[in-house]
Amino acid sequence: MENIKKVLLEATHEAGAILLERFQGHFEIEHKEGINDLVTEVDTACESVIINKIKHHFPDHSILSEEDGATANASPFQWIIDPIDGTVNFAHGVPLCCVSIALKKDNEIMLGAIYNPMMDEFFFAEKGKGAYLNGDPISVSSKADFNTAFLVTGFPYHYDNSTDPLRVFSKLIKRGLPIRRLGSAALDLCWVACGRFDAFWEYFLNPWDLAAGLLLVREAGGRVTNFKGDEHAIFEPEMLASNDHIHADLLNELNS
Ligand code: IPD
Ligand code: CA
Ligand code: CA
Repeated sequence: MENIKKVLLEATHEAGAILLERFQGHFEIEHKEGINDLVTEVDTACESVIINKIKHHFPDHSILSEEDGATANASPFQWIIDPIDGTVNFAHGVPLCCVSIALKKDNEIMLGAIYNPMMDEFFFAEKGKGAYLNGDPISVSSKADFNTAFLVTGFPYHYDNSTDPLRVFSKLIKRGLPIRRLGSAALDLCWVACGRFDAFWEYFLNPWDLAAGLLLVREAGGRVTNFKGDEHAIFEPEMLASNDHIHADLLNELNS
């Protein structure tokens, strides 16, 4: 695992260096499925650096990456990559974006690394060995009073009336709860892991948005489930991550 960890850290930092270098510069921007679902040439540049490095060191490992898709090898190891999480922020020069890479073995996320080079914040977690920000151990908040909780959520590019993410948002802001929407699910999860936010939820995420952050929150002492309250299983789109203390309150809001 040490060799894999070394490659993970290098790949995250190398892609992060590209992100920083190109931040607020000129780059091509294309639209994906919707007019506001963007991909920049920096997303693909970061992704190539990461994938080439992994393939060079571990040619038998599988890869699932947002822009490049999936390669399915027989290996139990799968790398799950979001070359830039928060692409819309990046494209507009907002420094809330990051590189997110996780390593899954069979069905377990073993390693997670998320780097926001604009803030020089490197988040890392290893299963059973804790979560860290720039090398220092981090833990979720101790907030138990839901009425004073500080929350963050996200919204999909395509609004879906059947899930209606605005319903819970609207209920909670009417109660006066402070809720943020940063635009990077990976950073939302990191910021729950280090105690800045008390909880995060979103209705439609992909595995690359959440894989590394899920491990960070769990290793920092938090809880990550679907909206039924079952342990989150990586490929599920809905996610609730919290400091554990206010988890039941938010589940209740999401389901009532
Ligand atoms: C998006 C961000 C955003 C979340 C979206 C994701 P992208 O990822 O994580 O916060 O609300 O659901 O798709 O497109 O910036 O990699
Ligand atoms: Ca993403
Ligand atoms: Ca992305």
